[in-house]
Amino acid sequence: MKHIFIMLAWLSPVLSLHGQTKSVELEGYDRMRYSKEEITVAPGTSVELTMKTISDIPKSQMAHNWVLLKKDTDVDAFVNLCDQYKDNDYIAPALTSKILAHTGMLGGGEQETITFKAPSEPGRYTYVCTFPGHYMAGMKGTLIVQE
Ligand code: CU
Repeated sequence: MKHIFIMLAWLSPVLSLHGQTKSVELEGYDRMRYSKEEITVAPGTSVELTMKTISDIPKSQMAHNWVLLKKDTDVDAFVNLCDQYKDNDYIAPALTSKILAHTGMLGGGEQETITFKAPSEPGRYTYVCTFPGHYMAGMKGTLIVQE
């Protein structure tokens, strides 16, 4: 009996981490796609997401970010306005309230790790790249929040 308690005490930090933190590795490609077009997490999960751009093209011509949007967002309008804010990494300051989490704009070989809390409300949340033309070409995906 004593041995069982020792085992549980040793395992408990591992078990709680497993339930609350999820690591996600994501890549962005020249063909304007993410390596994952669906990411599934439990509500309220702490997500540690690493985004990396794979490219040999200069950053001014090919870069990617990862922008997770609130459910009610008009995605086309969001991306269209972001197009105009090159100096702000293609994030429209007027629309930051629509963003749940995002990385910076990453050129070839660059990567960034961000940590955010997944929404507590189950559902489908769109993520996009706001580099001009990329979303329209298909650089998007869905964060699926479910139990
Ligand atoms: Cu992109």
